[in-house]
Parts: sequence; C-alpha cells; structure tokens
Amino acid sequence: MWPDNRILDLFGIEVPIIQAPMAGSAFSDMVVAVAQAGGLGSLACALLSVEQARKELEAIRRKTSRPINANFFCHQPPRDDRVREMSWRQRLDAYFVELGLDSNSPFPNTNRAPFDDKMCDLVMEFHPEVVSFHFGLPDKNLLLRVRATGAKILSSATSVDEARWLEDEGCDAIVAQGHEAGGHRGMFLTQDVSTQVGTMALVPQLADAVKVPIIAAGGIADARGIVAAFALGASAVQIGTAYLHCPEAQISPIYRQALKDAKDNETAITNVFTGRPARAIGNRLMREVGPTSDVAPEFPLAAAALAPLRAKSEMAGSADFTPLWSGQAARLNRELPATELTKQLAAETLKRLRLLRTRASADVHSALAKFTVLSRSRRR
Ligand SMILES: Cc1cc2nc3c(=O)[nH]c(=O)nc-3n(C[C@H](O)[C@H](O)[C@H](O)COP(=O)(O)O)c2cc1C
Repeated sequence: MWPDNRILDLFGIEVPIIQAPMAGSAFSDMVVAVAQAGGLGSLACALLSVEQARKELEAIRRKTSRPINANFFCHQPPRDDRVREMSWRQRLDAYFVELGLDSNSPFPNTNRAPFDDKMCDLVMEFHPEVVSFHFGLPDKNLLLRVRATGAKILSSATSVDEARWLEDEGCDAIVAQGHEAGGHRGMFLTQDVSTQVGTMALVPQLADAVKVPIIAAGGIADARGIVAAFALGASAVQIGTAYLHCPEAQISPIYRQALKDAKDNETAITNVFTGRPARAIGNRLMREVGPTSDVAPEFPLAAAALAPLRAKSEMAGSADFTPLWSGQAARLNRELPATELTKQLAAETLKRLRLLRTRASADVHSALAKFTVLSRSRRR
C-alpha cells in the first residue's frame, strides 16, 4: 500500500505519519489520538519536569498499548555570561518599565533541561518504542542506556553532515528537518541559519547520503506534501504545525487564532524567545528586538529573562512576548481531532498515490500502443 514500509516495520505502526513532538503544546491526549489512528504520537518532554513527564507517560500507557515516541532536547547547558545577561536585560528594560515589572529581579529558572539520568530512568521505566532527540544526541552512556531498553532512536538533521554524524552514532532513522519547519531548528553542527536547507532539497540529499530511513519534516500539512516527501525518498513524514489546529493541542486562544490567521509569509526564524533559532509567527518582540539578536543569551536563558514579560502580557490577552511557533504551511490548516486528521491524511495520501500509479500505468499502455503501431508500420 505505501511506497516504503521501512518506518512502519521499524516502529510497528500502520501509517507513516509521525505527530511531531511539540514541547509545551502537545501532551498525552494528542499522543493517544494519533496512536489510535495508527500513526506515531510523540510526547515532547523538554518543558516537563520528571514528575510531569511520568504523569503524561502513565496516562498514555493507560489509554493505549500502541507504539509511542518520547522526545528530549539534548543541548549543552549554557555558559554563565554576565556581560551578555546585562546586555539582554538592558535590551528588554523598556518593556519591563512599560509593563510595570522589576527588570532587576533574578531570572526565573528555565525548565528546558537537557536529557539526563533522571529522564533516562523514566525511559527505562516506560519503555517508549521510539525515543527521539533534538539538537544532536545525548552523551554515549545515556544513549547506551536508552538503546538497552530496545527503543528505536531518532534525531533531527538539517544537513548531510548532521545526518551522517547521526547515522555513525547509531540512529535507527533520521528526521530531515527542512527550513520550513516550525519550532526550534534541530541544527547542531553549525550555527549558521543562513545556510539551512529547505525540505525539498534536504530530503533527497539525506536519502542519498545515509542508509537509515529518512523522515521528512517541515512545511508538510496535507496529502500533497506527504506524496512529495515519498517521491523525494522519505519513508515517513513528521508533521507539527498541522496538529496544532487539533482540539488536543494545548495552546492559548491567542496562539490558536494566530495560527488560523497566519499567511505563508508571516513566519521567520528568530532567536529572541529562547536564544536558539526557531521558526515562529512574527509578533512585537520579533519585530522590535529581532528576529535575530546578537545579545540574546544562550539557549535556554533568553526564555527565562522573558518569562515575566510573557506572563504579564498574556494575562492582558496579548501575544507580544509569546513564541507563536509555526511552520511555513500554517494556512493549510484544518481543524479536526487528531485521530481524524491522521486518518484523513493517510487516506488522502493513498488516494493520490493510487491516482498517480493509475496515470503512470495508463501512460505506459499508451506508449506501448504507439510503439506497436509504429513498429508495425515500419515492418510494412
Ligand atoms: C510548537 C512546536 C514545538 C516543537 N517542539 C519540538 C520539540 O519539543 N522537540 C522536537 O524534536 N521538535 C519540536 N518541534 C519541531 C518539530 O519536530 C518538526 O520539526 C516541525 O514541527 C516540522 O515542521 P512543521 O511544523 O512545518 O510541520 C516543534 C515544532 C513546533 C511547531
């Protein structure tokens, strides 16, 4: 039925659609809903404490026995850089004054901790069938412990070099994250956003460069994108933004509305929300301070500095300081429950693939018929 079964066989799923892990926006309900449609639901743990992640995993395991993905960030902890911190405070100072906040209070703690022993214990306890990472891979000992659970291991690559590195480190499959993708760039061997590659160019080059299956991600939101991904050499797709329109996405009404209204040219890559490049719908902070700022502290410290501004402005119903993560294809949205969306995407893709096969075989028949007539007339 599907042009490539490698990911289906590897993960034990029925449709080659992975709901992208989306930290802060998609939790157990989304994961279960996608699993029920035969896709792979992903629980992003980057913004969860160990206890919160445990609760989500317990809820998932209670509701489904189908395969799931647990996802973690694995960035290097930031260096202490007082000078940069002061510059960032100064850059944001006027906003603190505007909102009546004290800009000299210490930054609150960020909860974007990299994958560590405690999260690894959780993986050993819950045995997610797939474990995926963003920003490279954790250190070898942690990776060995994850592998020992029998989980298949994934990470995102944004270039051929990153894909080869991940394959050499033992990844079972690689997410090709094109420049169109919403949320953080998974880039880890470069910091140069200007050379990041679009999905259309990235997927076939990764498929040629490595032996493990490729999962296309970035700007894919309907059957046209999924068929294209297969044509480019992907074995599955990972879809984020399209799932944010589902009722299971736990996002604020302002964020939901912004996604609904987003045009094709309204997102940009920005580092002002967290310190790392990520794609979001443009808002006041991005326009006035970014989209890219040289003084934004290292990931994830920029987020900590913004937290009071974000909280206060959100209370007033504003998204001025809120990261509205989104890929470039937000306007291809449809508002459906996640099970329904996954089933529709799969059915529409299969229909398109059948149509293409029928057309291709009709073309072959007509070419054969022409050839036969031509060779007969030559013989005469
Ligand atoms: C709101 C949001 C949050 C995201 N959070 C994560 C995350 O926690 N871990 C991760 O590996 N990828 C994350 N991503 C990136 C996705 O894995 C994926 O690359 C991207 O959604 C694909 O592009 P699309 O949004 O155009 O479908 C996030 C994306 C979005 C939109």
